Amino acid sequence: MVVAKPIGGHLASRAVPALRASFRHLSDVYLLAQGGYAPVGGFLNAREVKSVCETLHLTTGEPWSMPVVYPIDDDARSRLGSADQVVLLDESGPAAKLQVEDVFRIDKGMYADHIFRTRDESHPGVAWLLEAGDYSVAGTVEVIGDWQVSVPGSLPISPRDVSIRIAEKGWGTVVGFQTRNPIHRAHEFCTKVALESVDGLVIHPLLGETKAGDIPAEVRLACYDVLLRNYYQADRAILAGFPAWMRYAGPREAVFHAQVRKNYGFSHFIVGRDHAGVGNFYGPYDAQRIFDGFEPGELGIEPVFFDHAHFCRACGGMAFTKTCPHSREHHVHLTGTAVRRMLRNGMAPPSEFTRPEVANILVEAARTGT
Ligand code: ADX
Repeated sequence: MVVAKPIGGHLASRAVPALRASFRHLSDVYLLAQGGYAPVGGFLNAREVKSVCETLHLTTGEPWSMPVVYPIDDDARSRLGSADQVVLLDESGPAAKLQVEDVFRIDKGMYADHIFRTRDESHPGVAWLLEAGDYSVAGTVEVIGDWQVSVPGSLPISPRDVSIRIAEKGWGTVVGFQTRNPIHRAHEFCTKVALESVDGLVIHPLLGETKAGDIPAEVRLACYDVLLRNYYQADRAILAGFPAWMRYAGPREAVFHAQVRKNYGFSHFIVGRDHAGVGNFYGPYDAQRIFDGFEPGELGIEPVFFDHAHFCRACGGMAFTKTCPHSREHHVHLTGTAVRRMLRNGMAPPSEFTRPEVANILVEAARTGT
């Protein structure tokens, strides 16, 4: 485990090159330093990236689905030279030290094929990869002082702090819920059905970088807050932040999301319809099927799978494809595009789709352009 310790004296800090880190870089630096990516303890080298891409495992044989890389461009590579250490800067100064083990060229074709299952540039993950620098720095990180990544809100974001909250609640089994959206009725239904068979629920929204068009974290946080206060039991459900960035890598990201949540102290993790998906790049249940490739217990966290959830007028309530016998015309179904159009026109989505308290926040945010 990498522990936080102050950078050496003035002369030492002057001797090492410095690189300005992006928000995405800083999310990964923070999570690595906090043990959030265990068993991965640093930015991966070329051999590990290849192993993760091709086998879904590190060379040690431990499961891992997402290359953790630190892309840099040609210019940064020249500035780095042969330094064995680099200081990473956020917008207000030194954030962390990266111990340089290697600098290598990223095989972007291999990365895209395995991680995104496409080279289509309209995929936001592929677009990121193509824009990212061609090289990656491998090595371990140490944060400087008590630096932490700056994400919206004031929720606990470190694996340690969230584990402490769970221990304080006295929960033995805990289900985690990843989301990058406001919590609609379908999300709420999944979390509550999952909570029926465990002690507690952590709603764990992603607060790092998301793509343009996704609802900003500040707005989502207001939605989560109002929903928790009105529709969840305080002794059974808490809200915590996940400071990672969205890759939109569907199946690969579902495994990654689950493994990282194990480090937050969760025993179970919800994987619903098209987890971490985007557009039509993945089948609705690809992110569930990928878990079949692991031995039982190998990931150390139990995935909890859900079919498509919806409100059914004939059932008179929420249901899953698995439990509802009625055809689609009875279902309240709205695409993300339809919801965005309604909000832009000042209309609230129906209460069968979104709780009115949440809808009001979304309408207001759309009206004020936040
Ligand atoms: S994600 O990118 O974070 O996966 P989102 O916030 O929409 O996007 O989804 C959070 C979780 O809820 C994921 O596990 C997703 O599969 C699940 N989910 C979203 N909508 C539905 C739905 N209608 N039915 C079942 N599961 C869903």
